[in-house]
Amino acid sequence: MSSVAVLGSGVVGQTLARGFAELGHTVVVGSRTGKPVAGWDGPTATFAEAALGAESVVLAVKGTIAEELVTSLAAQLQGKTVMDTTNPIADRPPTDGVLAYFTTFEESLMERLQRAAPEAHFVKAFNSVGNARMVQPWFADGTRPTMFIAGNHDAAKAESIAFLDGLGWEVADMGTAAAARAIEPLCMLWCIPGLRGGSWTHAFKLLQD
Ligand SMILES: NC(=O)c1ccc[n+]([C@@H]2O[C@H](COP(=O)([O-])OP(=O)(O)OC[C@H]3O[C@@H](n4cnc5c(N)ncnc54)[C@H](OP(=O)(O)O)[C@@H]3O)[C@@H](O)[C@H]2O)c1
Repeated sequence: MSSVAVLGSGVVGQTLARGFAELGHTVVVGSRTGKPVAGWDGPTATFAEAALGAESVVLAVKGTIAEELVTSLAAQLQGKTVMDTTNPIADRPPTDGVLAYFTTFEESLMERLQRAAPEAHFVKAFNSVGNARMVQPWFADGTRPTMFIAGNHDAAKAESIAFLDGLGWEVADMGTAAAARAIEPLCMLWCIPGLRGGSWTHAFKLLQD
């Protein structure tokens, strides 16, 4: 079992904190203030305290501030697996249900984060599904959806795959951090049925021979 810092007090941070704790890991939720977090009755700390004290990290903060936060935490994240749930959603309204992003197809948010904390081992994960299906994501017929991941560090990906498998996911490793350029836009596609029709519990599955 590991000690995991979940950096983020929003619905994703709360959901994953409970999910990792149910697997038996020691979890602390980080926020700016370190104060108690609604929806989580375990320990809390500031972002820096939480990151420093944990073996592994989940990054679940607002996309627009993620790079600034990771830059400030580079020392605390050094040598650690950082499962990056963030999406680069811009502070602009969607067009016909299609979210606006502040990144381009030539550079993902996770690549920026990896550059901001070069000694951390970022793994894109959890960004292409809604919080309602992040933990125990299987469907009534037993179908397990696919979580797409990517990152430069093989051991960090192996650790992330073990966490994801424990939570109930089938995992598809798409390669290096550059693959986040393709994985992050999956959130745009995923959100369209929600923003246009109010459906928020679907998930992606990769079918292959
Ligand atoms: N919602 C979903 O279902 C879903 C699904 C997949 C991926 N995601 C991604 O997961 C991430 C978290 O999403 P969320 O919906 O849980 O919450 P969110 O509202 O996107 O983020 C909440 C977190 O961001 C921090 N934050 C906000 N403004 C900040 C600032 N100016 N400086 C420092 N920290 C700041 C908050 O800090 P405090 O704790 O101090 O308030 C809080 O911890 C996002 O990147 C989102 O795109 C969301």
